[in-house]
Amino acid sequence: MWRTSTRTGNGDQWGPCRSLDRTGKTPFETMICHCWAENSLFAVLSLGIEAGVWAHLSSDEQPRTVVAIADATGMEEAMLARLLKHVAAMGAGNTGGLGRCVLALPSYLRKTNYTSPTSMTDGNLQYDHDIKFNCSSGYTPMSAAWPSTSTWAAYSHGRPKWTDAGFYPVQERLLDDFDASCPDAAFLVDIGGNLGHNLQSFLDRFPTAPGRLVLQDLEHVISAIPPDSESSLSPRIERTVYDFHTPQPVKGARAYYMHSILHNWPDEVCCAILRNVKAAMCPGYSRLLINENVIPNTGAQWEATALDVLMLALLSSKKRTRVKCVRLLEEKAGLKVNEIDTFANGVESLIELVVPE
Ligand SMILES: C[S@@+](CC[C@H](N)C(=O)[O-])C[C@H]1O[C@@H](n2cnc3c(N)ncnc32)[C@H](O)[C@@H]1O
Repeated sequence: MWRTSTRTGNGDQWGPCRSLDRTGKTPFETMICHCWAENSLFAVLSLGIEAGVWAHLSSDEQPRTVVAIADATGMEEAMLARLLKHVAAMGAGNTGGLGRCVLALPSYLRKTNYTSPTSMTDGNLQYDHDIKFNCSSGYTPMSAAWPSTSTWAAYSHGRPKWTDAGFYPVQERLLDDFDASCPDAAFLVDIGGNLGHNLQSFLDRFPTAPGRLVLQDLEHVISAIPPDSESSLSPRIERTVYDFHTPQPVKGARAYYMHSILHNWPDEVCCAILRNVKAAMCPGYSRLLINENVIPNTGAQWEATALDVLMLALLSSKKRTRVKCVRLLEEKAGLKVNEIDTFANGVESLIELVVPE
């Protein structure tokens, strides 16, 4: 069954504004906005990160003159004034940090004759940095700008969560039939759960949920979690080191959860990861919850399509459409899709899977 959440709080509120904006522009204005204004803005925003302009401005709420910002950052005043004028004219307050890699895409795809990349060791990111490396090693040349251990909690900030009322019926589908007869019964295992923010938000919403809550990630991530005394992570959440390319050690949990994991990997690797989960699931009882952007076949939301292009540029991977998700999960990985709960045209979706009986 495919259900669409009725919640609308964080959907594409900009859609009507963008349509209005386009209506008010001539085709020429639309073209120069994309080609001149947005590209220039992106360059200035990236430069502002490097030069410490935004860090300085966000250090408190005080307004600053250009002279003061130039003083604090060491930038030439005339240059700073010129660049900030464009930021102000565009009304922007956002940051970019992935610019270099995304902007390399046209040249990379020209080289590959505009075909979909399949190699994780030789895609756009590697082309852009002129080296070969495997993203699955966890290291990328842009790790300073991208996968720091704290980035993922920030990504989730303010976004719809699968545990929000009206998204996925946690009580009926997971809690009601939880089998607590075994003392070490696991309730929820978050695979590749980073610093545990998803498990913590689950616990905040369902503080009396029974059973074990197990966080799994690589050693360098788990070791970055502060000790209980300094952490906002509940001591109930078990922090464990686990590589999802190896057999899943927690057997027969009520639910295994993966958020923003499969979009990083090509289908064959996803299948291998899914095989490890499937082998640990108890047929008829365990559920696998895949929390991803599932792009609808029509009417896709800009946020999901933008992320799809980013995945292409960074990891040679993709955000999958519904059709491609189901093909991967059912035909290739041999699981059964019970339902897909979707919010805001696929910007967040939860796919519930079981082992076919
Ligand atoms: C895109 S982040 C998603 C993090 C988290 N699930 C979330 O939604 O915020 C991918 C996560 O997978 C973890 N990861 C990457 N390779 C892994 C592996 N082989 N085994 C376990 N975790 C891995 C990373 O450390 C990172 O925390």
